Amino acid sequence: MTELFEPLTLRGTTIPNRVWMSPMCTYSAFSEGSEIGAPNDFHLAHYASRAAGGVGLAVVEATGVLPEGRISPYDLGLWDDSQIPAHRRLAAAIAESGALPGIQLAHAGRKASMERPWLGGGPIAEDEGGWPVAGPSAIAFPGYAEPAEMTLADIAAVVAAWAESARRALAAGYEVVEVHGAHGYLLHSFLSPLSNNRTDSYGGSLENRARIVLEVLDAVRSVWPEDKPVFLRISTTDWVAENPEDGRDAWTLADSIVLSRWASDHGADLIDASSGALVPAKIPHRDDYQTRNAAELKAASGTLVAAVGRIGDPAVAQELLASGSADAVFIGRALLRDASWANNAAAALGARGRFIRQYDYAV
Ligand SMILES: Cc1cc2nc3c(=O)[nH]c(=O)nc-3n(C[C@H](O)[C@H](O)[C@H](O)COP(=O)(O)O)c2cc1C
Repeated sequence: MTELFEPLTLRGTTIPNRVWMSPMCTYSAFSEGSEIGAPNDFHLAHYASRAAGGVGLAVVEATGVLPEGRISPYDLGLWDDSQIPAHRRLAAAIAESGALPGIQLAHAGRKASMERPWLGGGPIAEDEGGWPVAGPSAIAFPGYAEPAEMTLADIAAVVAAWAESARRALAAGYEVVEVHGAHGYLLHSFLSPLSNNRTDSYGGSLENRARIVLEVLDAVRSVWPEDKPVFLRISTTDWVAENPEDGRDAWTLADSIVLSRWASDHGADLIDASSGALVPAKIPHRDDYQTRNAAELKAASGTLVAAVGRIGDPAVAQELLASGSADAVFIGRALLRDASWANNAAAALGARGRFIRQYDYAV
């Protein structure tokens, strides 16, 4: 049996295999006029080609729940009903090409208002089309603008925006919503003591720092149907506390295990186990740097877990599933290089995925 190509049923939703397209910003949405934040023909081609290439689930890139929550002015958004029709075209194109359409809903917090990577990245000044950023505390990501400390009203507004975006995602035809709680963006910046020094009910203890994440999950679940899955992407570690040369109090795998249990009590069906990006940090140079944490998280928390990070070899992906280290794999850069990675993997492993169609003609 090739576990990688077995379906996975979560609630009432069946994902045809365990090779999933990881959310990856393309920074290709129009940033001006009525089409701001809306998917265009580029997005249709980009995602539909990976769906036709055999992935079971394609999770559309970080999509802003509010305009100020975008990483860059070229991000997708779902903060307004006018954005629904363009997302409906994208979700339909993915579904018609053979994959389940999912979407990652995100707020970039103190890492918002950035230039596109191929133009150097880095913050865009307010007088050059950027916008003021906000976060749990007035602590900047090194080299970036200092965020305004969010008020309780700001926090409530962001939580409500997540629910509104999920409602729009449902109207657009997405089948899976992933809450972006990783990579130093807003929710992760609440979780980590390196970026959160609040003294109210959203700072201090682990329970307080996790509060906004659980509120977002509750808010999403309040509008998202019972039979459709919600995922939570987290950074399993900041890669700081375990570094002997550093060792500051930071977000750790042990914290992630506790959070994952809480998240599943609040309606998250699967934890997508990424890592890092809250602060610059030393990350181990090994291919399993991140998938090891996924395996530990799965074993210790009992939640369903997807592994991600430097997975390029189909045999490695299959082994992650066969060994029980993960329930699915998210593939990122390998899928940018090869839209048919999933179909090629099925062929290499001798599996016949349901979604290998015309592929047989090519061999
Ligand atoms: C161009 C690019 C854009 C990305 N955008 C996102 C994103 O929108 N949301 C997210 O959670 N991760 C994002 N990531 C991280 C990927 O989803 C993935 O976790 C990471 O690249 C590691 O997997 P890989 O080694 O298979 O590429 C991005 C990565 C790349 C290379």
